[in-house]
Amino acid sequence: MEHTNIIIITRKLSFILIFFSFFYACFELQTSMSGPGLACDPSNGVTRSLPFCRTNLPIQVRVRDLIGRLTLQEKITHLVNNAAPVERLGIRRYEWWNEALHGVSNVGPGTRFGGAFPGATSFPQVITSAAAFNSSLWEAIGRVVSDEARAMYNGGAAGLTFWSPNVNVLRDPRWGRSQETPGEDPHVVAQYAVSYVKGLQGGDNPNNHLKLAACCKHYTAYDLDDWKGIDRYHFNARVSAQDLEDTYNVPFKACVEEGKVASVMCSYNQVNGKPTCADPNLLRGVIRGQWHLNGYIVSDCDSVGVMFEQQHFTETPEDTVAATIKAGLDLDCGPYLAIYTEKAVRTGKLSEGDVNNALSNTLTVQMRLGLFDGAQQPYGYLGPKDVCSPAHQQLALQAAREGIVLLKNTGRSLPLSPQRHRTVAVIGPNSDVTVTMIGNYAGVACGYTTPLHGIGRYAKTVHQPGCSGVACTTNQNFGFAEIAARHSDATVLVMGLDQSIEREAKDRVSLLLPGLQQELVARVARASRGPTILVLMSGGPVDVTFARDDPKISAILWAGYPGQAGGAAIADILFGTVNPGGRLPMTWYPENYVQKVAMTNMEMRAGGGYPGRTYRFYKGPVVFPFGAGMSYTNFKQSLAQAPTTLSVPLLATSANMTTKLNDEVKVAHTNCDSLNLELHVDVKNTGEMDGTHTVMLFSAPPRLAKNTAHPERQLVAFEKVHVMAGAKKRVRLNVNACKHLSVVDEFGVRRIPMGEHSIHIGNDLKHSVSLQTSNLEQIKV
Ligand SMILES: *[C@@H]1O[C@H](CO)[C@@H](O)[C@H](O)[C@H]1NC(C)=O
Ligand SMILES: *[C@@H]1O[C@H](CO)[C@@H](O)[C@H](O)[C@H]1NC(C)=O
Repeated sequence: MEHTNIIIITRKLSFILIFFSFFYACFELQTSMSGPGLACDPSNGVTRSLPFCRTNLPIQVRVRDLIGRLTLQEKITHLVNNAAPVERLGIRRYEWWNEALHGVSNVGPGTRFGGAFPGATSFPQVITSAAAFNSSLWEAIGRVVSDEARAMYNGGAAGLTFWSPNVNVLRDPRWGRSQETPGEDPHVVAQYAVSYVKGLQGGDNPNNHLKLAACCKHYTAYDLDDWKGIDRYHFNARVSAQDLEDTYNVPFKACVEEGKVASVMCSYNQVNGKPTCADPNLLRGVIRGQWHLNGYIVSDCDSVGVMFEQQHFTETPEDTVAATIKAGLDLDCGPYLAIYTEKAVRTGKLSEGDVNNALSNTLTVQMRLGLFDGAQQPYGYLGPKDVCSPAHQQLALQAAREGIVLLKNTGRSLPLSPQRHRTVAVIGPNSDVTVTMIGNYAGVACGYTTPLHGIGRYAKTVHQPGCSGVACTTNQNFGFAEIAARHSDATVLVMGLDQSIEREAKDRVSLLLPGLQQELVARVARASRGPTILVLMSGGPVDVTFARDDPKISAILWAGYPGQAGGAAIADILFGTVNPGGRLPMTWYPENYVQKVAMTNMEMRAGGGYPGRTYRFYKGPVVFPFGAGMSYTNFKQSLAQAPTTLSVPLLATSANMTTKLNDEVKVAHTNCDSLNLELHVDVKNTGEMDGTHTVMLFSAPPRLAKNTAHPERQLVAFEKVHVMAGAKKRVRLNVNACKHLSVVDEFGVRRIPMGEHSIHIGNDLKHSVSLQTSNLEQIKV
């Protein structure tokens, strides 16, 4: 979603749309500063006593009352992100589009920096926070972001509906938006979604109230932006029912069912020949019917227009509009529904009842947010002092420290010592960057600590960028970098990517470091007098095999895009103030992987020469595997307690439907609540430095008679723990047989295989649990 999307609409009509957007945007500027509350101002004698303003009535009663007062034309102006005012009812204009991917952002037109709110805390980009493998951290970030958003809303600088997080599973390493995601593992992405959404929305508020309305996007099977001329506006993702159920939809389901998110956004692409925002099965059927969304469904920006203009989905715009609303779309980011819905209703393609349904979903969310509560605003105490507060900025630093991953450390060359490494050469195009560290969908940061500044707190620095930008095409300054390295006690190269290489609407075609970076790294490493440390900034993985295998390069750190305090966190890790504990949330493939695999292939599973995707299915060579990440200390795990058997009851009604009793049981045919396993793992820090360790549990199903290519192993639980040197801590992890030990068949049906399941604890421990169906006769009684 981005403003420039509008550019892609090429027909004449698009000029009208652009005019509409600009017109709306200008209008919004003037009215958005008029203070909180959208309606029901207590000084307005006309509306004060109307039922929709009465906070003591149930929300559905208020919503029904308001809908009953609106004309069709008024209703239609509320189907788009820039909802028009209804002055006779005291309702102001509302801009639905706000973003808060990793801090309050001004990418959406509903949020503006300036005046009392010059900036907001800019946390690490999501891929970095994901590498922390700490769900409490994800929720804590969400809480801080929602405090800052509420404060800005109170000051008239933001809305309350935020279209974050992005929970698409990172399927292909080239994706320009890899940085926005929590990585490639469906369980991690689902946990991230649930935790961040809870933080943003305020958890379990009384009476269903919301602090903010978050949005899980982009539903579904979306992770191709623009690759070799194939773009997201035309792409038809061919997805099997199996992959949809056990990969692409996993985070969305968790976000709705467990995170109780207030919104889901459908994507630009088609899935199996249908635009997602016009697919009644995907929207009404799955999101509402199966997962019971309590909230609204919004389109990606201009995607309703894209459907007609780019995908030629229907004969007329009215048919497109009717198809989306009937499928379950409630709100259009873009002007299309405002322009064509009236004609769709007049020509009988849509009923006013359909429009009412959509409206009741959006209005309910606005009322849950308190937007119709007049001056009685919850969180009214939050103001400018709560934005960029020291505590908030400290959390941004903590998140970066937790997310940075140590990938190589030959001969314990790290941590550096301020006593022995008094002079440090700081080299590379990312060595003194600011906005590069916050990635995309960012706002204006409170301030920055660049790597150069961070390292400068520990040592005297000699700065030589070597390359002027990440895609540097000349080596004319490499000599200066070599000289700096030759005369320093240690060399830190800060290399990698930025938004010119990977971003929304731009996928990569190569995984290698761009430009002449590889040459710079190799030459500087040869020239260095002291240890050479390579620090990488990137959202997606980079093939740095050359550096991994180069004995002259002592250590490699991956920082992702580490946020406003990124340089401080990098320096803290380099000098051992902080012991690194991050783990890679995605596989780092070698370059030849992307030369072999088309980005358009949505298959997760390997087969017929196709290598498959992510650690769950891909078994070929890697540069660094999913979960990689070292520490300055050593940990030893042992299993303290774990059940060895589990009986799976068959529901009486389904008993005669399950033919192969000793083979597998459909998840729908058992009582999932009774199928929890608790494992206790002891983690001992056997080294000399305090540190954090992430316990990762992977499950592997029994060998099945009818093998439908299930993941060999997949992550089912993780828990991060801080352990002091020499000490031991016990970690409890929960596994649910329905969620974590089930496999998905080719029809998308989840089944629990009976027999011996293996649970791997990291790479070194393995435990078996035997699953059997319980006695049928007993159950039937
Ligand atoms: C995880 O994050 C929470 C919340 O910020 C923090 O208190 C805790 O120390 C972190 N856990 C570890 C093991 O670092
Ligand atoms: C179980 O079998 C009985 C008798 O054949 C049948 O009437 C009933 O519908 C079956 N139950 C289910 C849930 O299929």
